[in-house]
Amino acid sequence: MRKQKQKTHNMNLTKPVVLIGMMGSGKTKIGHMLAKTLKARFIDSDHRIEESAGCSISDIFEKYGEPEFRRLEKRVIANLIVNNEADVIALGGGAILNEDTAALIKERALCVWVKAPLDHIYKRVSQNSNRPLLACENPREVLQDLMQQREPHYARADLHIDNEDDQAEQAIQKILERIASLSE
Ligand code: S3P
Repeated sequence: MRKQKQKTHNMNLTKPVVLIGMMGSGKTKIGHMLAKTLKARFIDSDHRIEESAGCSISDIFEKYGEPEFRRLEKRVIANLIVNNEADVIALGGGAILNEDTAALIKERALCVWVKAPLDHIYKRVSQNSNRPLLACENPREVLQDLMQQREPHYARADLHIDNEDDQAEQAIQKILERIASLSE
């Protein structure tokens, strides 16, 4: 089947769109597609963290531990938002649990929760080994626990979208509608 050409939209973004949600829910893919549709700038916070640390997320966890990763994550995200470095930002799955990050995003961004069921997430994260929190004997249970703990934090987002069967196109449509309503 021929791939449909992605439409672009001329829409004014009055604030950045920040995508939150579990690892493997599809934030990066949706973020990329949304930015392309809007002809806007996209950044994945994990990539920016890796750039500034000069090593991979797994190496940061291994060498310095999770608390240091979280400090770096908070600083990188604050800089991205305060310095207006991107229009669409995909955050790592645990970033929004930081209260300062959550407050900054509430004040300055449109926050979107990308939701997907556990099985879908598990299937996606099983395809690669770059998630240090899942480098354990029972990654499925760990994912399930994290999902439960984090849902109340994710639920505070301005918009919830389902990305169940890789429904990126519908998800993007819903985000575009919300962006349009912001400038009405
Ligand atoms: C994490 C998610 C990862 C990355 C790190 C920790 C988490 O990002 O930030 O491994 O705590 O859920 P993705 O959500 O992009 O996989």
